Amino acid sequence: MYRIIRKKVLAPTMKLIEVEAPDIAAKVLPGNFVILRIDEKGERIPLTVADYDRKKGTITLIFQEVGYTTKHLGRLEEGDALLDLVGPLGEHMQIEGYKKVICVGGGSGTALLYPKTKAFYEAGAKVLTITGARTKELLILLDELDAVSDELYVTTDDGSYGHHGFVTDILKELLDKHDDVDLVVAIGPVPMMKACAELTREYGVKCIVSLNAIMVDGTGMCGGCRVIVGGETKFTCVDGPAFDGHLVDFDDLMRRLSYYKKHEEEVLSNECCSGGECKCH
Ligand SMILES: Cc1cc2nc3c(=O)[nH]c(=O)nc-3n(C[C@H](O)[C@H](O)[C@H](O)COP(=O)(O)OP(=O)(O)OC[C@H]3O[C@@H](n4cnc5c(N)ncnc54)[C@H](O)[C@@H]3O)c2cc1C
Ligand code: FES
Repeated sequence: MYRIIRKKVLAPTMKLIEVEAPDIAAKVLPGNFVILRIDEKGERIPLTVADYDRKKGTITLIFQEVGYTTKHLGRLEEGDALLDLVGPLGEHMQIEGYKKVICVGGGSGTALLYPKTKAFYEAGAKVLTITGARTKELLILLDELDAVSDELYVTTDDGSYGHHGFVTDILKELLDKHDDVDLVVAIGPVPMMKACAELTREYGVKCIVSLNAIMVDGTGMCGGCRVIVGGETKFTCVDGPAFDGHLVDFDDLMRRLSYYKKHEEEVLSNECCSGGECKCH
């Protein structure tokens, strides 16, 4: 069992939990993720390790409540425990060797972006960070990102905070202003990552994205997380989740992500399940 020792509400549907997991905390690197199960009837969901403390033996997870399991997770409190936590999984991101990096986070993707931003900054790169959300209440980790960025830009789709518009507006401005950017890291909704990949391609700047393919076993055995990268089939869990954005087939990814939409909606609209107290799962 993995005990939750700290819980923080970052935004109405965005929660942070710090979990005791000494074995994972000892080995995890930026870019790795875990797969968890809340209880014996729960589904397995992947979450990125947003931060870790090797001395305390804890890892931090930040998640957006989008469906059954993340809503259930959001109802757990300090002192509660998770049944399974497998990890660290995935390839960690290469951090060394970059001088100027633009980090772009959209919505809950900002939680996934934070550990990479921190790692680039600590490795000595100049870090320009852009984070965006639909509206002010959904912005997360502004202070944390500010502490590990040389410059921080904030956007909201509705103009309630920062620049009124998309993260790609600022990305274009920065790419126009800085001709020495080595790398752009873009993490967020698939259309946002696709737009960042297309924009950076025009400027000839490398762009890494982190793919949110549906995962089941996280070991490369089930095939659930197949994606097409550079015309080849890759498994997001073992070959990724970070890939060269210029090579990703985003349209195929969007198609695969929508496979279970109907079933997910049915589960959420079922009164019995939505409370999370039932025994029907
Ligand atoms: C490597 C990786 C790291 C991730 N890290 C984070 C993170 O740090 N914070 C965060 O908020 N979210 C993260 N996600 C997304 C998170 O896994 C999904 O939001 C979660 O699984 C939703 O489950 P649900 O039952 O609440 O929602 P559901 O109603 O079941 O699904 C809602 C949507 O979530 C996605 N999803 C559902 N099940 C899975 C699954 N098993 N694997 C992948 N995606 C799924 C689908 O796009 C689906 O349409 C990550 C996904 C991947 C692949
Ligand atoms: S999650 Fe099963 S192959 Fe990647």
